[in-house]
Amino acid sequence: MGLNVIMMGPPGAGKGTQADRFARERGLPKISTGDMLREGIKEQNPVAVEAKKLMDRGELVDDGTIIAIVRDRLAKPDTRPGFVLDGFPRTVGQAAALDGLMDERGEGPLVVIDVVVPDQELVRRLGSRRICGHCGTNADVGKLVCVKCGGELVVRADDDSQVVLERLKIYERATRPVLEYYRARSTFRAVNGAQAPEQVARDVDRMIDDAAASGGRRIAGERRVSAPVAE
Ligand code: AP5
Repeated sequence: MGLNVIMMGPPGAGKGTQADRFARERGLPKISTGDMLREGIKEQNPVAVEAKKLMDRGELVDDGTIIAIVRDRLAKPDTRPGFVLDGFPRTVGQAAALDGLMDERGEGPLVVIDVVVPDQELVRRLGSRRICGHCGTNADVGKLVCVKCGGELVVRADDDSQVVLERLKIYERATRPVLEYYRARSTFRAVNGAQAPEQVARDVDRMIDDAAASGGRRIAGERRVSAPVAE
């Protein structure tokens, strides 16, 4: 049975940072819908180019488009040992579709990590974030060029301060209900994402291992009812 992880949290919570690291360390594919859309835009893929209009305004891309992208990606054989999802699901419709895909795969459980960070810290992080204009990697603090490819550092298009506020509003409206969808499952955990990245990493690793061990197999249609571990 694969180790299937969902890294959730508002914009700027650090879910991409933790998903990247955890996936690399465990040899699992990281599946970020935001990264896939941004790569599609670079390659002039028509669906992604259309989605860019919404992304630049901080709005969500429609469920049908996103679910199709994730379904295709999860069909690839490298996801058999498991995967780390970053930025998906973001609506209850996406979460229900993912449960359906997991049932089709005969897979489970989904380990759900909610990275919790206060809004003012999210605004601060996104206001100061720079990414590589060439490969899209988040820049390390204090660096003048990308450590991965030497590319020039730029502001991400949707990190404009007004767009950040819109993204946070949409998170509250569309994505917070997804946490309620998952919260009752025994494989749901919340981590304090306002700590230093290394401490968040230690907590995330411990929580994922503990949740995976306690989760067991999710049966089609089952909604877990045991209480989440208080952190
Ligand atoms: P997406 O790319 O998923 O962006 P997001 O959710 O807004 O997340 P971010 O990448 O901004 O933040 P993050 O939590 O990953 O934080 P990060 O690790 O980068 O989506 C972009 C757009 O695509 C959406 O708005 C939507 O339009 C569309 N889209 C994508 N998926 C979709 C879906 N499923 N449905 C519909 N539409 C979809 O860290 C942020 C910064 O903080 C970095 O500078 C980092 O170095 C720093 N940092 C990280 N951890 C820490 C820490 N512990 N302490 C201090 N700084 C930290």
